[in-house]
Amino acid sequence: MNAPGARRPLVSGNWKMHLDHLEAIHAARDLGLRLQPADVAAVDVSVHPPFTDIRSVQSVLEGEGVPVALGAQNCAIEDAGAFTGEVSPTMLARLHVEYVLVGHSERRQLFGETDEVVAAKVSAVLRNGMTPVCCVGETIDEREVGLAQERLASQVGAAVAAVPRASVASLVVAYEPVWAIGTGQAATAGDAQEACAWIRDTVRSAAGSEAADGVRIQYGGSVTPDNTEELVRCPDVDGVLVGGASLDAAAFVEIVRAATRAVR
Ligand code: PGA
Repeated sequence: MNAPGARRPLVSGNWKMHLDHLEAIHAARDLGLRLQPADVAAVDVSVHPPFTDIRSVQSVLEGEGVPVALGAQNCAIEDAGAFTGEVSPTMLARLHVEYVLVGHSERRQLFGETDEVVAAKVSAVLRNGMTPVCCVGETIDEREVGLAQERLASQVGAAVAAVPRASVASLVVAYEPVWAIGTGQAATAGDAQEACAWIRDTVRSAAGSEAADGVRIQYGGSVTPDNTEELVRCPDVDGVLVGGASLDAAAFVEIVRAATRAVR
């Protein structure tokens, strides 16, 4: 059984619909100039640019040896076919994408992605040899009426059920309470720990201890260089998913360094 400390934290930057391909090239180079080997000795780092940037960012990361994994923000359920406007997970894998966000709350809320759709995407990402970062989180209304844990259990349960038991440990789950995203109001470390521990217990009940001890659970929602260390010190918080602050390379590198301090 893994000790909690055996999970390597993952710091991910979700660029959302920001930075065109020229700006993205600049941002990726900037990361490469700032990140030192010590920054990535104890934590993994990924960036999730818009689809139109992915090929350009791949060239910078690989060509200049930037120690950051390439990510995507979404993908189709199918690998190929008559799905106008969709982006194939197989094609993402060909561009050396390693992590794909699935079921971000903006996808769930604005684009109607249900737990079933999200589960199918988790399985599509795994089938193509990439790691799903499955986003879960309650709304403020659900929290206020005491339904937060129920909501998390159904989101996590649907994702885990879509995955062969042996693969559950390789998943990443991002706990992102909807009320904390882009609001400047991050969850407290105590609240983040409680929710992440609940998520891990849900994985344990569904898929056993090996899966629960291996799965990495990030916290996301108004993460900054100032709150990262305390969040990542929580035993069940294995990194952070960063939106706004990831658009500034200097701030993002400070977040990576804060995560490193937390695990030392
Ligand atoms: P935020 O976004 O850091 O800007 O709150 C987080 C996210 O949506 O992943």
